[in-house]
Amino acid sequence: MFTIPTFPKTPKSKAPKRIAVLTSGGDAPGMNAAIRAVVRTTIALGSEAMGVQRGYSGLLEGLIHPMVPSSVANIIQRGGTILRTSRCPEFMKPAGRKKAISILRHHGIEGLVVIGGDGSFRGAKLLHEESGIPVMGIPGTIDNDIPCTDDTIGFDTAVNTGVQLIDKIRDTASSHDRIFLVEVMGRHSGMIALHTGIGGGAESIIVPEVKTSVKSISESIERGIRRGKTSSIIVVAEGCQFGGVTPLSKELEKLGYSTKMAILGHTQRGGSPSSHDRLLASTLGAVSVHALLSGVKEGMVGVQGPEVRITSFKKIQGKPAELPEELLEVARNLAV
Ligand code: F6P
Repeated sequence: MFTIPTFPKTPKSKAPKRIAVLTSGGDAPGMNAAIRAVVRTTIALGSEAMGVQRGYSGLLEGLIHPMVPSSVANIIQRGGTILRTSRCPEFMKPAGRKKAISILRHHGIEGLVVIGGDGSFRGAKLLHEESGIPVMGIPGTIDNDIPCTDDTIGFDTAVNTGVQLIDKIRDTASSHDRIFLVEVMGRHSGMIALHTGIGGGAESIIVPEVKTSVKSISESIERGIRRGKTSSIIVVAEGCQFGGVTPLSKELEKLGYSTKMAILGHTQRGGSPSSHDRLLASTLGAVSVHALLSGVKEGMVGVQGPEVRITSFKKIQGKPAELPEELLEVARNLAV
């Protein structure tokens, strides 16, 4: 359950009459639930809803269409994004944004909701500053690497997917007495690795935020062997110092270890969102619209503890989210 902020009522004449929504960057399970919440809340509160296809790229191509409640029927359980998504370097250039602003104005859009990660929010901040158009961000990325929010849409599902896959790998690892290196996504962040590793009972978790050495990984394998372990699962964040499981397995091979590798990759981005992600997405989507309609001009709608909070885009730029030290400690103690 989240505590949702209340917003002052604004005269209807001052509220955005048309609100558009887009998804940007890597897709994440739960983005559809967020789109649904934005569209339905907008219409329920008396404004018009529009959808932008393919993120900022689609915006630059004018791929904008009206959305009605039935446009978002039967999508809450679907992974991916019905609006589709893209990464758009052109939007990061002033000329690209100038074009986008004139397209938004041409379509009479008076408020925009961007569902995406930190790169998408850099674009959202600039768009608002250069146009004055109110823009709200909803954190949608499996990485959970955005500052000023404890959670992002898709993270819980990605971790659940990772844990389920590790459970399967463990069956074969223990049957064959093998060491498995399991690579998970997360770009520069170890958040997915840490949560997936703890949930999957990994013997070691390698994250970018904590430097280690092949010697120390080998020592932890040996400690396990001394305690009678015949197999190990080592969860490796793709962004770690070794550059993923392939180089790490070569290093371990030099010390005489034979390992098997599994790269979970995009399996973690797909699939039906967990109930947690559906609730998070529905809540953040609804709050983003309430904020726009009550005159909030910009910012990301995130969660801090149990509270839904809006943070200015200015505060979240250039500040990587940190791994909670207490959770790292939990992982260390569980791996003894
Ligand atoms: O940001 C989400 C993410 O899945 C990262 O974990 C990963 O590094 C990256 O996107 C992969 O991006 P792409 O699908 O464009 O290769």
